[in-house]
Amino acid sequence: MCGIFAYLNFLTPKKRGEILKTLVNGLKRLEYRGYDSAGVAIDSACSKDMALIKKTGKVALLEEEIENRSKELDMDRIEDIHCGIAHTRWATHGVPSEVNSHPQRSDYAHSFVVVHNGIITNYKEVKVFLQNKGYKFESDTDTEIIAKLIHHFYEQHPNYSFRELVENVVQQLEGAFALCFKSKHFPGECVATRRGSPLLVGIKTKTRLATDHIPILYGKDDDPQTPTEHRPHGRADYPVLPRSESTSEFEPLEDKQVEYFFASDASAIIEHTNRVIYFEDDDVAAIKNGALSIHRLRRLYDDPHSREIHTLKMELQQIMKGNYDYFMQKEIFEQPESVINTMRGRVNFETKTVTLGGIKDYIPEIKRCRRLMLIGCGTSYHSAIATRQLLEELTELPVMVELASDFLDRTTPVFRDDVCFFISQSGETADTLMALRYCKQRGALIIGITNTVGSSICRESHCGVHINAGPEIGVASTKAYTSQFISLVMFALVMSEDRLSLAGRREEIIEGLKNLQQQIRAVLQLDDKVKELAQDLYNKKSLLIMGRGFNFATCLEGALKVKELTYMHSEGIMAGELKHGPLALVDEDMPVMMIIMRDPVYTKCVNALQQVTARQGRPVIICEENDDETKAYGHRCLEIPRTVDCLQGILTVIPMQLLSFHIAVLRGCNVDCPRNLAKSVTVE
Ligand code: F6R
Repeated sequence: MCGIFAYLNFLTPKKRGEILKTLVNGLKRLEYRGYDSAGVAIDSACSKDMALIKKTGKVALLEEEIENRSKELDMDRIEDIHCGIAHTRWATHGVPSEVNSHPQRSDYAHSFVVVHNGIITNYKEVKVFLQNKGYKFESDTDTEIIAKLIHHFYEQHPNYSFRELVENVVQQLEGAFALCFKSKHFPGECVATRRGSPLLVGIKTKTRLATDHIPILYGKDDDPQTPTEHRPHGRADYPVLPRSESTSEFEPLEDKQVEYFFASDASAIIEHTNRVIYFEDDDVAAIKNGALSIHRLRRLYDDPHSREIHTLKMELQQIMKGNYDYFMQKEIFEQPESVINTMRGRVNFETKTVTLGGIKDYIPEIKRCRRLMLIGCGTSYHSAIATRQLLEELTELPVMVELASDFLDRTTPVFRDDVCFFISQSGETADTLMALRYCKQRGALIIGITNTVGSSICRESHCGVHINAGPEIGVASTKAYTSQFISLVMFALVMSEDRLSLAGRREEIIEGLKNLQQQIRAVLQLDDKVKELAQDLYNKKSLLIMGRGFNFATCLEGALKVKELTYMHSEGIMAGELKHGPLALVDEDMPVMMIIMRDPVYTKCVNALQQVTARQGRPVIICEENDDETKAYGHRCLEIPRTVDCLQGILTVIPMQLLSFHIAVLRGCNVDCPRNLAKSVTVE
């Protein structure tokens, strides 16, 4: 997740310093979306070229850099047209560095620059095409291909408008994106578009706008094959779209006294205006001479004629958290999207294949290894527990799961033919990093599974998988867990690709992954029911969470969430261990939750359930939808959709995330920053 921001002013001449300040302030509001580097592009004071200022680290460092270069940037110079684009980055391709920061450029002369939020999944193929055309790349980002591709189209078709060039570019892009473009060939203009990543425009006028709608201009292109059929494979060049005349029944918004703000979300613009248009996928918005137009290539019969200008009624803090009161809550509800981002460009649901670009070249070596070791702390360790059984099944290798701190305490033997996974949201956890160095010294292959590109664990690994969950702000990890889980499942699928005997199993898992987004949405609808349950539990002293098999990890993770957020005692119990001790805790007053799904350990789980009810326990049961037989044992029940056994833990953990959240709120705890804890634990 990154933040993009652009500012255009046609109101009155302004000092360059003021324009830069507006851009930097916009970025500060978006910093929660990513904070590993930042950059801006504005028209240059001393030449026709643009000034590009980029800095690794937080936006404050970019601000400092602008301050240091204030002479060169001629901050007091008065500009007539103000057009700048800006970006705060959360790396997905390429480590955080100045060259990988946005805006990305087409060439040294900055003919075209672009800021991007999202992931371009076919960037390698476009890059090869452009390299064959003589383009030299300077960054490791997927975004650089966009700046160079628009330059390529411009060279081929210098008579095309800026908007038409952008339309040609997006025809060739796969993946998710929100983009803002600026060009020295089109001074004072800005074109923005989106597919899959959010984008809006804020409109500020001196007088009240005469309209509540902006017309959509549709191209006359009614050839449905035009966009996606055009691929460069084996062709000399990308075919371009015909020049499009636009049709509309409405006049475009044209106001000489107007300021426009493109942004990833409303937090960046609310201090300027509360009038916004939310763009839809494949809208291309162009601003030229103070006029905003929204264009789409073709009109389907039920497409609207216009986009509405909404009036925001929210406060700044609220907007950063969307409709949520807490970052943790927002992150729980982001999971339908974050799991898709983890799989994007990796799982092909049509061919039923999985590719993990970051470890692809190491797969033959991994297949020859002695054993797999999964190492992490806290929630990251739980993602290893959750996927161990599937890894054993699909790789047929011994799999060890280790807490990083304990692993080091034991000076565990590690060998050259071991493959060690280091799982870490932050990529900076000291225990995990120490364990990584320990294994590396002993010659093992090191694989990082992190959410933070450029983190220490990323840098020190031989190869890895970036989970692409987007920044996690709440201290309690939620969406990173489900994305780590899926990353490890994808690894198991890659390892078993050539195993005919496992083909059926692989297919059912890939089908399960395909349905996950919908099913997570269904689980999130239980929120009100979970809140009612929290009312019952919030003043209790303890909560036991029991399960086994694929759902044992959910018990551990659920208990960890309850402990860290609510300061209540909670314990995840392997149901098979119940009679070896924990059963002594059970009576009619002890709150117990049990996860009982119709998987291979169902009967054993029901045995445990009967042991609990026989001691007057009144369990809350998490079970499959419509499983009336199991429901009948429960004092309360949460029914969740059924998926493949090995993915069920992704769905069962969500009610536990919600429950811990609601209990924390009811107990008046600080949800986003629980006492004594930090997001990144950089001490042993
Ligand atoms: C719990 C939690 C922690 C982390 C642990 C490891 O909600 O967030 O248990 O999982 O500190 O952190 P990372 O994954 O950054 O290595």
